[in-house]
Amino acid sequence: MEIINSVKELKAKVSALRSDNKTVGLVPTMGALHAGHASLVSRSVKENDATVVSVFVNPTQFNDKKDLQAYPRTLEADCALLESIGADYVFAPSVEEVYPEPDTRTFSYPPTDTVMEGAFRPGHFNGVCQIVSKLFMFVEPDRAYFGEKDFQQIAVIKAMVADYVAQDAEWAKRLDICPCPIVREEDGLALSSRNTLLADNERAIAPNIYKALKASVEYSKTHTVEETKQFAIEEINAVEGLEVQYYDIVNALTLESVASWDDAEHIQGCITVFCGATPIRLIDNINYK
Ligand code: PAF
Repeated sequence: MEIINSVKELKAKVSALRSDNKTVGLVPTMGALHAGHASLVSRSVKENDATVVSVFVNPTQFNDKKDLQAYPRTLEADCALLESIGADYVFAPSVEEVYPEPDTRTFSYPPTDTVMEGAFRPGHFNGVCQIVSKLFMFVEPDRAYFGEKDFQQIAVIKAMVADYVAQDAEWAKRLDICPCPIVREEDGLALSSRNTLLADNERAIAPNIYKALKASVEYSKTHTVEETKQFAIEEINAVEGLEVQYYDIVNALTLESVASWDDAEHIQGCITVFCGATPIRLIDNINYK
């Protein structure tokens, strides 16, 4: 496995692979890797001739400076894990390497980027599109892998790629976005790099989020969308130390809220919860149909 810090070197490596007719998988990450990331990388290793994993804490997607500072950085351990699961290249650039000048591009794909996380974290998805589009243009991968824990992020990235396809970008036409299922701890907590920031007492209550979501799926069989939403919110808020920021039940493709279970073919519940005194912001989601 090779560690690459410069864009020029990264482009040279992938262009050599392409000249040899090798397929390339890309797994974009912000590091602090866990078994969820490992599942994306293992899938890419299986499905492509070569796998590039980017490890870059992207400053433009953080709308809160403290959150950016607190974000865990564990490059050495990340590289050890990536090597053990067969990644070929780790792209770990500096901020200056990725943004030699400020990125002033704006991306807008409503409603995917304006609802839920988009409403509560203004500018977040613009930053995600800035970095992910750059990575796509550096690597021009055949496949790119994203975890479904960030359900909304996948919808925004798919909208961005469709927009580049409409603009005739060759790299976008070839690219396949591959969503991968959430990996959970045994007690149901969705794996997240932010989990390492949880104090013991916070870690102990966090699994109640998924517990409530799962219970809400059962509840939804005999209740309306609105009743189900309220049920999940009340179950979680009843746990001392947890506070729901939002819970929305949406069309899984457009991310628009649904009023009835018949409003869409696929329906997803997407939640953000504040956990503990700090507090740590945890996201999760569940499928209803
Ligand atoms: O999901 C993440 O970790 C980040 O948003 C991503 C896609 C790596 C872009 O920085």
